[in-house]
Amino acid sequence: MQAHDIRVTIGRRDILHGICMQARAGELTAIVGPNGSGKSTLLKALTAEIDFVGQVELNGRALTDYRPWDLAACRGVLQQSLNVAFPFTVREIVQLGHGAGLSAADPDIPDRALSLVDLDGFANRFYHELSGGEQQRTQLARVLAQVWIEARTDTPRWLFLDEPVSSLDIGHQYVVMDLTRRFTQNGGGVIAVMHDLNLTAMYADHVVLMEAGEVLAAGTASETLTTDLLSRAYGCPVSVNTPAPAGVPFVLPQARARSNLAPAG
Ligand SMILES: Nc1ncnc2c1ncn2[C@@H]1O[C@H](COP(=O)(O)OP(=O)(O)OP(=O)(O)O)[C@@H](O)[C@H]1O
Ligand SMILES: [Mg+2]
Repeated sequence: MQAHDIRVTIGRRDILHGICMQARAGELTAIVGPNGSGKSTLLKALTAEIDFVGQVELNGRALTDYRPWDLAACRGVLQQSLNVAFPFTVREIVQLGHGAGLSAADPDIPDRALSLVDLDGFANRFYHELSGGEQQRTQLARVLAQVWIEARTDTPRWLFLDEPVSSLDIGHQYVVMDLTRRFTQNGGGVIAVMHDLNLTAMYADHVVLMEAGEVLAAGTASETLTTDLLSRAYGCPVSVNTPAPAGVPFVLPQARARSNLAPAG
C-alpha cells in the first residue's frame, strides 16, 4: 500500500496536510499519534471512505481503479465507532462481512471467525446487548470473515483497523494482536491505528507517528517511539527504555512535577 501526498479538507478545515506513507504486505503497520492528529481521517482516506486529494495504491493498483466488490474482496475495514441501528444478532453482523468477501461460499467461516475472537456461543445473542469489548470483537469477526485469515489468494489481503483493541482487556488485546500477526504471517497486510504504544512496540513492523495532520516520523518502533519524538507528539513527559530480553522500546509516562499541576492563584 502506497499513499502519496494525501490531503483532506472538511468544511474549511485542513485535516491532513500531504501525508506520504507505505505499508507492506506481511507486516503490521501501526499509525499512532495524539487525539485529533488525523489517524482515523487518514485511515478513511486509505480505504476510500472519504474524499481526499492525492494517490493511494493497493497491491500496485490505484484505489480509484477498483470496483467496490473488488475492494471488498481484498480488504476489510474496522471503523473506530460503529452504530448498529437494528437489532441484529452477532451472527448476522458477522455474515454482513462474510457475504462481501472471497470466502462467502464457505458457510463455516462466520462461526470460525467468532471462535478466533473468543466469542464461541455468542452467535445468537443480540449485538446491542453485548458489552463494549464483546461488540468490538464481533466487529473484528465481521472483518475477518470478509478477508478470511486463511484464504489463499494470489494478491495480498489487507486489514485496516481503527483502534482494534481500545475496549479490550489485556488478555483479549493479545488475542487480537496475535490474530493480526497470524494474518501477516499468511501474507496479508495490516494497517492499525493504535493508542497503546507498548503493544505497538511489541507487534508493529513499521510505525507512522502523526502529529497535527502530518507524519512526524516513520520507521521501526525503535526509530519512532523515542523519548524526544513521543514527548513532542503527545506533549507530556515520557521515558523510553529498551529492556532485555524483548529488545523493543518500553514507554513509561512520567508524572509531571506537582508544582506544574497546582491551580493558579
Ligand atoms: N467530519 C468532520 N468534520 C469536521 N472536523 C472533523 C471531522 N472529522 C474529523 N475532524 C477533525 O479532524 C481532526 C482529526 O480527526 P481524526 O478523527 O482523524 O483524529 P484521530 O487522530 O483519529 O483522533 P482520536 O485518537 O481521538 O481517534 C480532528 O481535529 C477532528 O475534529
Ligand atoms: Mg480516531
